[in-house]
Amino acid sequence: MDTIKYVLSEDQMPTRWYNIAADLPAPPPPPLHPGTGQPIGPDDLAPLFPMELIKQEVSTERTIDIPEEVQSVYRQWRPTPLYRARRLEQALDTPAKIYYKYEGVSPAGSHKPNTAIPQAYYNKQEGVKRLATETGAGQWGSSLALAGALFGIEVVVYMVKVSYGQKPYRRALMETFGAKVIASPSDSTNAGRQILAEHPNSTGSLGIAISEAVEVAATDPNTKYALGSVLNHVLLHQTVIGQEAIAQLEMAGDYPDIIVGCTGGGSNFSGIAFPFIGAKLRGERDVRVVAVEPAACPSLTKGRYAYDFGDTGHLTPLVKMHTLGSTFIPPGIHAGGLRYHGMAPLVSHLLDIGQIEASAVQQLDAFAAGVQFARAEGILPAPEANHAVAGAIAEALRCKEAGESKTILFNLCGHGHFDMSAYMDYMAGKLENFEYPEEEIAMALAGLPSVG
Ligand SMILES: Cc1ncc(COP(=O)(O)O)c(C=O)c1O
Repeated sequence: MDTIKYVLSEDQMPTRWYNIAADLPAPPPPPLHPGTGQPIGPDDLAPLFPMELIKQEVSTERTIDIPEEVQSVYRQWRPTPLYRARRLEQALDTPAKIYYKYEGVSPAGSHKPNTAIPQAYYNKQEGVKRLATETGAGQWGSSLALAGALFGIEVVVYMVKVSYGQKPYRRALMETFGAKVIASPSDSTNAGRQILAEHPNSTGSLGIAISEAVEVAATDPNTKYALGSVLNHVLLHQTVIGQEAIAQLEMAGDYPDIIVGCTGGGSNFSGIAFPFIGAKLRGERDVRVVAVEPAACPSLTKGRYAYDFGDTGHLTPLVKMHTLGSTFIPPGIHAGGLRYHGMAPLVSHLLDIGQIEASAVQQLDAFAAGVQFARAEGILPAPEANHAVAGAIAEALRCKEAGESKTILFNLCGHGHFDMSAYMDYMAGKLENFEYPEEEIAMALAGLPSVG
């Protein structure tokens, strides 16, 4: 029998998160205070995050226990299945073996609840009443809204305006879970009002929405901030994905030669890849790891590795990352979750030290890959996940050309059931590619903060 699905039982779910900081040859450059230029400490972050998450942010322990209360919610959908894409392999006529980890089975439809649940849990433990956050496509916002409902915390979500218009059902899902959703930029914050004064028709960006949510948290003692990607603790929480994949590939008697993930802020990519990169860093097994980003927002392939703000309104610490400049507003591609000017410092560091590779895909190529995948495998990927699908297909076709039977693993980080208007536009020929916005990026990079 040709096995299609590798499934773990609930008692095989990981009970610890894996922390790659323990295995790095050198730590990534520290976040800096924008005023003093000095490394920030826990006290600087305390207005925004609960202490337990701050400790995880700076931890160098190799593993961190997943609290039982978090495990119990994870078990609602975890462990997630690992699929062998046999029909896609046939359609591509490739000798490569393609596996994908499917995170779309979570209640919100993506990997984002893997971190929303522990973030809400630790905030609740420390008595926080309300969480403010940003969302691009709405996957993260709906995940935090769900987590807020489960742990009894109010959630306010600043949703990037272009997505607010493109994805009304995501907004309805967040509201169903009890969250308040505001289109960003909004006139409810100073950061939003400032952007609107300069750009009244702004479509918004994750960088702007982050400024609004951070401002709300920084100015209200009962509200803390939650981020859906980029930060070390967020990447840490996602490592359940890769740990499960290791166990599932063991069931299949396999190990990946190539791992592919899409990158917005870097969390689903890290989730699948870090446990494997850890094994590589420890000298146990080699693997090639490829991050795939949109050509319209190419932070890893065209950005500069420099200290920059995480948000457009410059309220966050400075972090060293691959960045297109914090004032760069990416074109309104449908992969709203990939429209971020920067990249997780840990992912940026791994690219800098040559442990991972990066490539960029145009919107139409990403959708073509997603449609091909859906027709072979029956699962409709999120527009963000289409970038990983495109990356995996490109690797499989390369194997075909070279006559090599490599094992490819990719993260199908979410389904696209709330993104049907994007697919309708694609099939009607209304979607377009965006040229690399060279001038805008040059302008945004010219404004990078100077760090002594
Ligand atoms: C389905 C999906 N994939 C990927 C991303 C990009 O985020 P990250 O790079 O942190 O995984 C998002 C972000 O919203 C998303 O919703």
